[in-house]
Amino acid sequence: MLQIRGRPLRLLLSEERIKSRVKELSREIEEHFGEPFLVVGLLKGAFIFTADLVRSLSIPVQIDFMWVSSYGSSQESSGHVKVIKDLDTDLEDRRLLLVDDILDTGYTLREVYKLLKLKGATEIRTCVLLDKRERRKVSFDADYVGFEVPNLFLVGYGLDWDEEGRNLRGIYAVE
Ligand code: IMP
Ligand code: MG
Repeated sequence: MLQIRGRPLRLLLSEERIKSRVKELSREIEEHFGEPFLVVGLLKGAFIFTADLVRSLSIPVQIDFMWVSSYGSSQESSGHVKVIKDLDTDLEDRRLLLVDDILDTGYTLREVYKLLKLKGATEIRTCVLLDKRERRKVSFDADYVGFEVPNLFLVGYGLDWDEEGRNLRGIYAVE
């Protein structure tokens, strides 16, 4: 059985389910944009999801990454995000898709959304693979959601538990 630090992992979403949902999301996204756009992935958690999503798109896109961390304890965000690595791309008059691994309290996406708006983006759509709705602390919903998930701590497909588990191909609950 798979384990991280002695804690067993239970499979929640298989590689195959993720793959087919990523395809569906990319169809919806390209139908909406209809022309080249910018994809902004949030490091580190969204690196695998972003990579799979953009390879599933048939419209050419530009890709950039931003690395933010939220203040507070390691398992829960707070209302402030610190930009560790900013974008290289000029956002003036750009239409973009902001991608994250999971929407939890909502602080991270809400804050990053505001930052990107201030940088001049004309349209920002948000896409998350996972949504833990019951954990939301601020009202923020993503335009595209892969799966709604229960309030469990999850690892795999980019998500980590203290930097472990990101490379797992499926998504697992830490028991
Ligand atoms: P939010 O600001 O609370 O919405 O948190 C979003 C960030 O918290 C995500 O980008 C993840 O890095 C992290 N996070 C939330 N839930 C989990 C989880 O179950 N496993 C791993 N990381 C998580
Ligand atoms: Mg993250």
